[in-house]
Amino acid sequence: MPLKELCYPIITKKSLGSRIWDVDGNEYVDVVMGLGINIFGHNPLFIKAALLEQLEEGIQIGLQTELAGEVAELICEMTGMERVTFSNTGTEAVMTAIRIARAVTNRSKIVIFSGSYHGHFDGTLVKVRKLEGKLQTVPLTCGIPQSLIEDVLVLDYGNPESLEVIKAHKNELAAVLVEPVQDSNLNLQPQEFLQQLRQLTTELDIALIFDEMITGFRIHPGGAQAWFGIKADIATYGKILGGGMPISAIAGKAAYMDKIDGGMWNYGDSSFPKVKTTFFAGTYCKHPLSLAAARAVLEHLKAQGESLQRQLNQRTSQFVQTLNDYFESENLPIKMGHFGSLFAPVPAGNSTQSKDVSSSGAMGLNLLSYHLIEKGLLSRGGSGFFSTAHTDEDINYIIQTVKDSISDLRSGGLL
Ligand SMILES: Cc1ncc(COP(=O)(O)O)c(C=O)c1O
Repeated sequence: MPLKELCYPIITKKSLGSRIWDVDGNEYVDVVMGLGINIFGHNPLFIKAALLEQLEEGIQIGLQTELAGEVAELICEMTGMERVTFSNTGTEAVMTAIRIARAVTNRSKIVIFSGSYHGHFDGTLVKVRKLEGKLQTVPLTCGIPQSLIEDVLVLDYGNPESLEVIKAHKNELAAVLVEPVQDSNLNLQPQEFLQQLRQLTTELDIALIFDEMITGFRIHPGGAQAWFGIKADIATYGKILGGGMPISAIAGKAAYMDKIDGGMWNYGDSSFPKVKTTFFAGTYCKHPLSLAAARAVLEHLKAQGESLQRQLNQRTSQFVQTLNDYFESENLPIKMGHFGSLFAPVPAGNSTQSKDVSSSGAMGLNLLSYHLIEKGLLSRGGSGFFSTAHTDEDINYIIQTVKDSISDLRSGGLL
């Protein structure tokens, strides 16, 4: 409420590279980057060319699209997954992955971890509350009936005790859904926990689903799976994949993905789709424009190789180090973390606790955000993504802008 008069939406007009211009003609260095989509910056020429080329061919929906097989093969090649299908948003992909896991295992319950975000499907919008002395899963927000989340267990991320809870529910669990490094706590990168989780879910025949919406193609060409050396049963992708167009992918082992189409078969022999399928549909699935953009993205990433991600990760790491050194030298209670080219304020102190956005520090961060906007920097409340379009000058400008904004807040007695 005290900041109400500072709230206004930024109405964008155009964007290019690391920049966005608003309707008032203000130019910003942008690190929102389409909420993690634009790893090559805004409006890269090669994606624009692919879209224009496809526009000339038309938009054919409802039949098979020539590009789907090619894009699926590229995803398999980069991620090591066996089969792929396409939907339009991350939310849909996660929802479908859960349905596939439930269909294959014939079980209902799933585990998700506190602090994770998996989109706005009712079935994952949950939190835990202590009710009458007992921990219980409850809807995250209004409009979600308790009956829709009855089968969701919310456990502590990175905590070995969670593995014990999984063991205790082994006969009811269809899947464990993981955001490998949570956007809400980037410093928690629990490789050992994930490896143990992989081992346990394999032993218990529970599907391990990696939600790679943010980590996919960002931390490494093979995503968090390649980074942590873990093979999930199903993984979901989006954001970077579509180069700005709406597309998501559900990829996984054939044993799971065959639930979509019944499995491989050929003409002229006795083969047929043997697997009983679940329901999967969507008018816009395999949209030719999205697939054209996705092919351009994947071919570009493939041509550039792992060094693209390595360099971006290194530059982000240096940026975060510089800011943290500054915060420390100024005795400021702010700490930044990063995972690949995603950076964000992280909870100070105990790294297994997720960020508490309602804390008093959030007020200072909110004010800081407005100073940053006023000085021409667009961020997501202090967090953001670097792209290959961000120059060293952009990064230095961001660091200086943060320092100047903090100095302004201090001189006004607000920090
Ligand atoms: C990890 C993760 N999963 C799922 C989603 C949902 O994706 P979408 O917004 O495309 O539905 C997001 C979105 O930010 C995400 O970060």
